[in-house]
Amino acid sequence: MQISLTINGKQHSGDVEPRTLLVEFLRYQLGLTGTHVGCDTSQCGACTIHMNGKSIKACTLLAAQADGQDLTTIEGVAPSATELHPMQEAFRENHGLQCGFCTPGMIMSALAMVERHKGEDLDEKTIREELEGNLCRCTGYHGIVKAIAAGAKAMQASQGGA
Ligand code: FES
Ligand code: FES
Repeated sequence: MQISLTINGKQHSGDVEPRTLLVEFLRYQLGLTGTHVGCDTSQCGACTIHMNGKSIKACTLLAAQADGQDLTTIEGVAPSATELHPMQEAFRENHGLQCGFCTPGMIMSALAMVERHKGEDLDEKTIREELEGNLCRCTGYHGIVKAIAAGAKAMQASQGGA
């Protein structure tokens, strides 16, 4: 079946089987390999992307269900090819990654978390609770939590907030 959707601000279309998972469509048909697959059970969060501004696990949705929707993947968050998003920069600065496998999903979840808690201080407890759906096999959670707190502050500052 033919689907057509917006990804990172660009229009894409493709022919998918009804059983094709959204994450497979992104990785294998469009070559957007920043969205990772870490489990078969919707637990690890490595495949987290945004659909219509909300974070979702791309392994739990069929490509057909994304027909007509607006998606953002990790490839679409940096402002340009030579600049990092403040949240990506915060991960770099705060040792928020080790092997990096979970990082795209962590960053997509972090961005959605910041959006959900707009205007609030993202404290460690909230960040840890919100990260329940994302697993890091390197168990580097301390750096990830620090990075998200710093990234949230940097985003607020760049948006003219506190
Ligand atoms: S690959 Fe989607 S949650 Fe693990
Ligand atoms: S940094 Fe290796 S899985 Fe998280």
